Amino acid sequence: MEAIPVKKNQELEMTIVDLSHLGMGVAKIDGYPIFIENALPQEKVQVKIVKVGKKFGFGKMLSIIQTSPYRQTVENKDLIRTGIAPLSHLQYEQQLKFKQNQVENVLAKVAKMPEIHVEETIGSSFSFGYRNKAQIPVRKIDGILQTGFYRKNSHELVPLDHFYIQDPAIDAAIVIIREILQQFEVKAYNEREHSGFLRHIVIRRGSYSHEMMVVLVTRKKHFPQGEKIAQKIQEKLPEVVSVIQNINFKQTNVILGEEERLLLGRSFIYDQLFDKTFRISAKSFYQVNTPQAEVLYQKAFDLASLKQTDTVVDAYSGIGTIGLSLADKVAQVYGMEVTPQAVTDAQKNAKINKIDNAAYVVGKAETVMPKWKEEGIKPNVIFVDPPRKGLDQTFIEAACDMDPEKIVYISCNPATMARDLQIFADKGYYTDNIQPVDLFPQTHHVETVIALKKR
Ligand code: SAH
Ligand code: NI
Repeated sequence: MEAIPVKKNQELEMTIVDLSHLGMGVAKIDGYPIFIENALPQEKVQVKIVKVGKKFGFGKMLSIIQTSPYRQTVENKDLIRTGIAPLSHLQYEQQLKFKQNQVENVLAKVAKMPEIHVEETIGSSFSFGYRNKAQIPVRKIDGILQTGFYRKNSHELVPLDHFYIQDPAIDAAIVIIREILQQFEVKAYNEREHSGFLRHIVIRRGSYSHEMMVVLVTRKKHFPQGEKIAQKIQEKLPEVVSVIQNINFKQTNVILGEEERLLLGRSFIYDQLFDKTFRISAKSFYQVNTPQAEVLYQKAFDLASLKQTDTVVDAYSGIGTIGLSLADKVAQVYGMEVTPQAVTDAQKNAKINKIDNAAYVVGKAETVMPKWKEEGIKPNVIFVDPPRKGLDQTFIEAACDMDPEKIVYISCNPATMARDLQIFADKGYYTDNIQPVDLFPQTHHVETVIALKKR
């Protein structure tokens, strides 16, 4: 075994050579990597080694000796400490380059397809204040109910009022709701003891509609003050059209529990995408950056070059954003999605927008797709928009066996997308081009879209 070239608590000067995929600066001694938060490539920094592992270590930056020309001032260091905005110290243009590089790296290393061309990342018109959703942990600090965010890799709450990347109206709402909860002496959840009551406040605000939903996530069902608190919230925040109690009694990191109780208004908000109206329930997925989601979807539609005679599959359909936005331009849309609430939303959304050529079913993509293949459904174009873990091999095989002209793949994780590209290649489907689109400015998250065709 080779000796590790550094010791814990050692202080030394290091040059940053790279950014990790999580946005940490990387420095090397004899090939041994040290990850350093808040450090940028080309910088010389004074570092204290805080953790030494077998294959890599972590350092804390004590000072910057030579500053990167691409560094920008961070308004609040907690944004990096908590991981809310791990790239906020890097100028936005360079963030876009970083994301393009990330995609190039996984293509070369994971997919072994370095020949695929990666386009420049399409930037977001809002690089701050863009998130339409917040999931805020609630804890007791010094006897008072507080809201904020966890320090990275921990469950220690850093109190925070201004999250910078969220819609400022959401930031303001959290402070008002927190004050109401304090007045009503609502008990905060204690994670270590799994005691107390209120775990999270989840807020969604329609980017265009400005309708607001407030979800109070509680450990127990019994909440006699619930309706009164909901009324008070609406009194102070007239945009609120929905207040929901969600009950999560499990000891888990998953935020929402199974059961819901409506405290005020309706169980969903409306928002607009392109020229259509969408209802969104608490458990349904909805892209957090609405205007940039439109840019992403438009790119996907352009790549698909749809025809009026097309049969389209909208896989991982959520509330039907993709299929319903293009339904007017094609003959028929079939969608599937695993969350029942989201499928109900998709079906209602078809009705609201007077779309009668789109059908949505509840089910896992990897189960539904082979069934549709057996039933003889013959899509010309398949859209897939899976979660971070990417596609299932069974799904890919069924999709390719349906012999579509195009498969448009929207991905929020370049690593699993690169893995899936190899399986598609085995089935004869390829792409020459990848388009990254930035939906999550100031964070390390990368979204991409591709069109796979038979060669
Ligand atoms: N296309 C939608 C949703 C994309 S997010 C939009 O753009 O808004 C991915 C969706 O896949 C989520 O709604 C999630 O609930 C769903 N999902 C996760 N695993 C799934 C599976 N195995 N089969 C079908 N849907 C799944
Ligand atoms: Ni991540």
